[in-house]
Amino acid sequence: MSDFEGLTALVTGGASGIGRATAELLAGRGARVAVLDLDPSGVDKPLLGYRADVADDTSVREAVAAAVADLGGLDVLVNNAGIGAQGTVEDNDDTEWHRVLDVNVVGMVRVARAALPHLRASAHAAVVNTCSIAATAGLPQRALYSATKGAVYSLTLAMAADHVREGIRVNCVNPGTADTPWVGRLLDAADDPAAERAALEARQPTGRLVGADEVAGAIAYLASPLSGATTGTALAVDGGMQGLRLRPVGR
Ligand SMILES: NC(=O)c1ccc[n+]([C@@H]2O[C@H](COP(=O)([O-])OP(=O)(O)OC[C@H]3O[C@@H](n4cnc5c(N)ncnc54)[C@H](O)[C@@H]3O)[C@@H](O)[C@H]2O)c1
Repeated sequence: MSDFEGLTALVTGGASGIGRATAELLAGRGARVAVLDLDPSGVDKPLLGYRADVADDTSVREAVAAAVADLGGLDVLVNNAGIGAQGTVEDNDDTEWHRVLDVNVVGMVRVARAALPHLRASAHAAVVNTCSIAATAGLPQRALYSATKGAVYSLTLAMAADHVREGIRVNCVNPGTADTPWVGRLLDAADDPAAERAALEARQPTGRLVGADEVAGAIAYLASPLSGATTGTALAVDGGMQGLRLRPVGR
């Protein structure tokens, strides 16, 4: 399949997990791909790696400019870099709220702002934001993280409206719990990692975690010229967690 042949893409947080799977998939389907990450040291050819912190506007502008110069333009932006936060509204102070909002929400704004002039020059411009089921379902102990992803969902709709007449499509994916290094770190920190994994798996109707490659496939669909009529949507990749209401097994 070569729907990305001749196109260029920038993937933030592309050195690990969902971002890495996405960068590799887009490259496999013909795109030239740049990865922007806090730590791009493990990024291998054919991917191009650029160090940047999405919480720092100067580093974002410099990395996007360098990536676009090396790629020779920009057709696809995958705004994927994000960090987690646990607890209720009582568990994080203002500093932590500002830090996580700064990375997960304003980070996407900074990268989009730097990328938009280049996307406007593309005949197949697409932005895909990595949102989360936490934007649309109330999950326990995720107040701050959920607030950031709710903002990403609204930002996706607003950006889709602002840029549709410029030929730039904007969509997001809403993954359920995905089997990435991030979730691996969460499981490692749990009192009983096996029980924690089993609880996360049981929360999803499919009975298993989502694969990073499955989220990458959804991102690639939304980024592809093949989905040229799709903008302002949130594509759930959550094992049915948002939409299904199952009865207990055996009843
Ligand atoms: N794993 C899940 O269960 C899950 C579920 C729903 C949504 N998501 C979202 O998917 C995205 C990727 O998550 P993942 O599980 O692949 O995580 P991950 O930790 O495996 O990868 C995240 C990458 O982002 C980079 N990054 C973090 N902060 C950055 C910053 N300030 N500037 C630049 N790069 C930065 C990291 O270096 C890392 O390479 C996040 O936006 C996350 O909120 C994940």
